[in-house]
Amino acid sequence: MIALVDIHKRFEGNGTAALDGVTLSVTRGEVFGVIGPSGAGKSTLIRLINALERPSSGHVEIEGIDIGTLPAAGLRTLRRRIGMIFQNFGLLSSRTVADNVAFPLKLAGVPATERAVRVAALLDRVGLAEHAAKYPAQLSGGQKQRVGIARALATGPDVLLCDEATSALDPESTRSVLALLRELNQDLGLTIVLITHEMDVVRAVCDRVAVLERGKVVETGTVDAVFAAARHPATRQMLAGLHA
Ligand SMILES: Nc1ncnc2c1ncn2[C@@H]1O[C@H](COP(=O)(O)OP(=O)(O)OP(=O)(O)O)[C@@H](O)[C@H]1O
Ligand SMILES: [Mg+2]
Repeated sequence: MIALVDIHKRFEGNGTAALDGVTLSVTRGEVFGVIGPSGAGKSTLIRLINALERPSSGHVEIEGIDIGTLPAAGLRTLRRRIGMIFQNFGLLSSRTVADNVAFPLKLAGVPATERAVRVAALLDRVGLAEHAAKYPAQLSGGQKQRVGIARALATGPDVLLCDEATSALDPESTRSVLALLRELNQDLGLTIVLITHEMDVVRAVCDRVAVLERGKVVETGTVDAVFAAARHPATRQMLAGLHA
């Protein structure tokens, strides 16, 4: 469903490449993890998938289409098909939970009555039906991320990108948000690309994983295989940091 083909990404004024020859593919319906230390290029990689960044060379294909060739209208459609959630939730603090979730629907021109119906269904889906009228400041971290997930799902995407979506959460909220992601993956067939620096997160929800180090994929495979026999020192080091 998603293919990154020999991606190099260099930022202006930055000597080393953020991504240095990355090739990987994500299959429809899987939860694909990308793990690596700070600065490895994880956020850059995920931002290439919804064209928030452009590769310096190489290309990104979604269902066989090179997204670098898409005109503006094609990019808008692409972004409706690819939702994203963030470490710091990115909610509008001056708007209610319901209005935050409604926001992408408003942008897409969905009429108010239909918006209300869809927002209610989305909030129900993420377990926040009773919190619709609250403001983000009145919610726990885990609840805020559920709002982020509901908003990301508003336009009916088939891919969800998660950039350190649980890094700001306590272990309990982390578990419940990861369980929700798994549920959405199974119930809706949502393809999920999940970025993290924690092996625990990979183990909890991912089908396959790629290990990124200094802009290169140093290891990739099923989570079981990578956990059973990590070949690369970077992977071993991350595994060693795990409480068994
Ligand atoms: N907009 C930018 N301009 C210049 N350099 C950037 C930009 N974005 C990222 N970089 C650089 O690219 C490299 C990879 O950054 P990236 O944010 O992708 O790493 P990361 O793996 O997400 O790290 P973290 O775990 O800390 O979030 C870093 O060296 C970073 O400084
Ligand atoms: Mg990052």
